[in-house]
Amino acid sequence: MIKTILITGTSQGIGHALTKLLLINGYRVIGTNTTGIDNINENNYKSFALDLSNLDSITAFEKNIQIENIKIDILINNAGIGPDLDFELPEEISFKKTFDVNVTGTTLFTEQMLQHLKIGGKIINISSKMGSIDVCEKSDSVAYRMSKAALNMYTKILSNRLAGKQLVASVHPGWVRTNIAKSNINGRLSPEESAQKIFQFISSDFKTGTFWNVETEAECAW
Ligand SMILES: NC(=O)c1ccc[n+]([C@@H]2O[C@H](COP(=O)([O-])OP(=O)(O)OC[C@H]3O[C@@H](n4cnc5c(N)ncnc54)[C@H](OP(=O)(O)O)[C@@H]3O)[C@@H](O)[C@H]2O)c1
Repeated sequence: MIKTILITGTSQGIGHALTKLLLINGYRVIGTNTTGIDNINENNYKSFALDLSNLDSITAFEKNIQIENIKIDILINNAGIGPDLDFELPEEISFKKTFDVNVTGTTLFTEQMLQHLKIGGKIINISSKMGSIDVCEKSDSVAYRMSKAALNMYTKILSNRLAGKQLVASVHPGWVRTNIAKSNINGRLSPEESAQKIFQFISSDFKTGTFWNVETEAECAW
């Protein structure tokens, strides 16, 4: 039976490349971005508007999933922002925005999606090694780093709650040439290369509660 993947943030970057790869590999994909409009026109693809910083938008999205009776095999929480990436000091507006999307929105969205996730299903939180506490030696991008550390904690909590039912993992997608920050122009991977590596990971029977670096193909320090 054809598998259904729900992925957030499909309009550009890693989410866009991963959606195209999933479709080529025969999955049915439900995508989201802030406008509901992207340039993916495939039979097995449908996109909806979703603003993770707005609880009403999350609730409206959930209603669509309910109405269309969509059962999810894999949820990929890919959407994320980094307005303070490359900046040294935290500042109120970008701090709030970052946490609204990367932490609060992603968590409350996932909670609403759990009722639609199949037993045996998977949840992938696209995190970042910038959220690794153990190996952090830098002082920039405070909100972004803290938001990914918080997302990693949610991965752990959820893997405990869903043990024996569904697998949950945090994934570092590599340093990828996307528009998330100016410095990403120097990223080591194209979105397509990162998508291929993420695809390999999500296709595997990974250990639940893991934090995986797809660039090095090894566990990431928490
Ligand atoms: N690029 C890297 O090197 C790198 C490294 C480590 C981790 N990551 C993580 O990988 C994920 C994807 O990053 P990317 O580099 O591909 O970024 P990107 O190119 O900037 O794409 C971000 C995606 O998130 C969506 N999004 C932004 N704000 C949103 C909101 N409020 N509600 C819902 N969706 C929203 C965007 O939709 P719109 O276009 O509609 O705004 C877009 O589709 C992020 O979680 C990021 O933190 C990236």
